[in-house]
Amino acid sequence: MSNQPPEVPAAKAPSPRAAKPTLLIVDDEEGPRQALRVIFNTDYEVLMAGDGYSAIELAQNRPIDVAVLDIRMAGMSGIDVLERLRFVDPTIGVVMMTAYETTDTLRQAMRLRASDYINKPFDIGTMRAAVARALEGRSVGMQARSSAEKVEELKSELQRQKMDEERLRTRSQIYETVLHDINGPLTIISGLTQLINQRIGERDVISGEDLEATKDHLHRIIRQVTTCAEITRRYLSFLRQNPNENLHVSVNEILGDVEELLRFHPAVKSNEVVIQRMPRDTNAAISSTDLIQILLNLTVNALQSTAEDHRVELGAKPIDKEINIAQLRDGSSDRYINLDGFKNKAPLVALSIRDNGPGIPPEVLSRLFEPYFTTKPRGQGTGLGLCIVQRLVLESHGALHIHSIVGKGTTFTVYIPAHANGH
Ligand SMILES: Nc1ncnc2c1ncn2[C@@H]1O[C@H](COP(=O)(O)OP(=O)(O)OP(=O)(O)O)[C@@H](O)[C@H]1O
Ligand SMILES: [Mg+2]
Repeated sequence: MSNQPPEVPAAKAPSPRAAKPTLLIVDDEEGPRQALRVIFNTDYEVLMAGDGYSAIELAQNRPIDVAVLDIRMAGMSGIDVLERLRFVDPTIGVVMMTAYETTDTLRQAMRLRASDYINKPFDIGTMRAAVARALEGRSVGMQARSSAEKVEELKSELQRQKMDEERLRTRSQIYETVLHDINGPLTIISGLTQLINQRIGERDVISGEDLEATKDHLHRIIRQVTTCAEITRRYLSFLRQNPNENLHVSVNEILGDVEELLRFHPAVKSNEVVIQRMPRDTNAAISSTDLIQILLNLTVNALQSTAEDHRVELGAKPIDKEINIAQLRDGSSDRYINLDGFKNKAPLVALSIRDNGPGIPPEVLSRLFEPYFTTKPRGQGTGLGLCIVQRLVLESHGALHIHSIVGKGTTFTVYIPAHANGH
């Protein structure tokens, strides 16, 4: 028997932890174990195990580069050891030693990615070559593994970047919302200031009715300033990702606030606005600022739907059964928002804004919620109102239904989760 065939190169150690690669010999017979140790002692750090259990234990405690496994062993067979080794480290190079194995056993070994199988009694040269090949396979396996790890790392880096982008996008949406929503109160403030200006005019002293009216206007201005402050506070806390504290709001109170906000809103003009309170008030699970923003945006849209005098009605209805959403479909005159994220559990409250304006044609209906989509002349609409409404409805786990018939009018219905019996 020759010592080392010249064509087999001395293997380079892929294990960074040991100067020499580690070879694990697993055989329940002392003779072959010792023979293998003698063959590989110089080039490898040789570990020996007399059974499968101690082999697994060794592999769990230190990195193994190559294992030579006898298939036929008492207790755990070589195939079982191989299977478990794969769990410990899928890149270990494995050479199986076989005696009179069935092809089934060999197939099983191959399936478990044994790199070679060698007949017992073995020839030293063949054994060396097989172990060297297994070692090479191991470094390829490790490279593949480290590439796979790198791909994973890259993937999670991308995921992080996507989340950062999403956060930024949310931020800019929030800034846009704040600017858009503050515009409403500012318009009212501006109207009231003009009214005060008219009352006071050139006068040095004001009294009586003029004084009372001016006080009233000032009072309303202060309320609007408070609303502005509330809007910024709400969105700042949102930016800081604070959970919303107060998700409990009286629907009738909000309808009252909307009525108040509309009193001096320029969009009202000589249109008829009817706001109907609930005979029995309900508490909606949404913040008051959010609900006001939703209703105000939808009402102002309804008021601005035509320059002709028309009527806009606001109302609210309790719903004590979940809504059968399976039958709801978008169509040419209907659109639904957030049916997937809708917390469709009774009690709910349905708030509706109905107008007898021009209605929304199907091609507009399908684009309604696109950011910056507007049919208003340049400078008159930002096209952000409905986009904001959609986001607020989503955040409150509500849903929105738009029903519109051209020539007849439009109804927006907002469904919001409610609290049972005023709780
Ligand atoms: N009740 C309605 N009747 C008819 N069209 C409507 C109605 N509500 C919304 N629309 C249409 O939807 C478009 C988008 O509304 P959205 O509130 O997003 O933006 P906008 O009202 O145009 O601008 P902004 O809200 O900044 O004033 C409107 O331009 C209008 O064409
Ligand atoms: Mg709008």
